[in-house]
Amino acid sequence: MKTLSYPTQISLFEAMLDGSRVATSVTDPALPDNPLIYTNQTFESLTGYPQEEVLGQNCRFLQGIDTDQLMLQKIRKAVETEESVTVTLKNYRKDGSSFWNRLNIEPVTVDGHLYFIGTQTDVSVEYFQRQVLAEKDEEISRLLLPILSISENMGAVTLVGEMTVERFEVLTTKLSEYVQKNRTQHIIIDISGVFWQLNHFSLRLLMIQDVLRLMGSKLYITGISPKAAIEISELRETTKSLLTFATVQSAIEFSQR
Ligand SMILES: Cc1cc2nc3c(=O)[nH]c(=O)nc-3n(C[C@H](O)[C@H](O)[C@H](O)COP(=O)(O)O)c2cc1C
Repeated sequence: MKTLSYPTQISLFEAMLDGSRVATSVTDPALPDNPLIYTNQTFESLTGYPQEEVLGQNCRFLQGIDTDQLMLQKIRKAVETEESVTVTLKNYRKDGSSFWNRLNIEPVTVDGHLYFIGTQTDVSVEYFQRQVLAEKDEEISRLLLPILSISENMGAVTLVGEMTVERFEVLTTKLSEYVQKNRTQHIIIDISGVFWQLNHFSLRLLMIQDVLRLMGSKLYITGISPKAAIEISELRETTKSLLTFATVQSAIEFSQR
């Protein structure tokens, strides 16, 4: 490079930057409001703003009302203290569409003059994938149905929300694992927090009861409304064999008889 003339070197560097897949920007903090003094072609492709529209402006024009203030605070502090920083923040293109920008800012000193070099990468896909994963995690913990140990001999689980076939399967597996591991003789399932779909629900609970019985454990269903209790007693013979109680307390008292 050094054998080339200075203008050729500059042109080559510019071509390299424009050909780069990374959006690049340079600001001059010696000028009022630390404005952009350079943006590459990829900056325009990413943001929709051509160089001539943005030079002389502070890069905050990419932000919107829901851009995370905490991230902006981090940038402000890094610029003030002349340190490098990497943040991911919501930005807006010229056409108003948004994207998640992983912004890296580095201070550089050239000939005793301080500049900031910014690189902008669109990480929207990665961001949304992470969000989907987080939602899946939430779904998994919803399915988790923690079993509480009430006493050495008794465990209880509270069902909340909608009980799908999948959740019932998870519950059956978890309860049988719990009973096997702890040799628990009494299991309480409290259903006061679930939507009561009688037929489907009772049959599922009966299946759980059968599994637990085989393992030497008794099932108590609590949180039953008087209306549901009447409906259960009107169901098929088999359903009647479910032990139902209004409260957890009454099931505990019954189990101690
Ligand atoms: C080199 C450089 C590049 C920047 N690029 C962006 C950017 O792409 N998007 C953005 O929202 N802010 C960017 N900023 C941050 C803003 O210019 C500004 O520093 C930030 O909004 C905090 O300062 P303020 O509170 O004065 O707005 C950049 C800053 C520098 C120094």
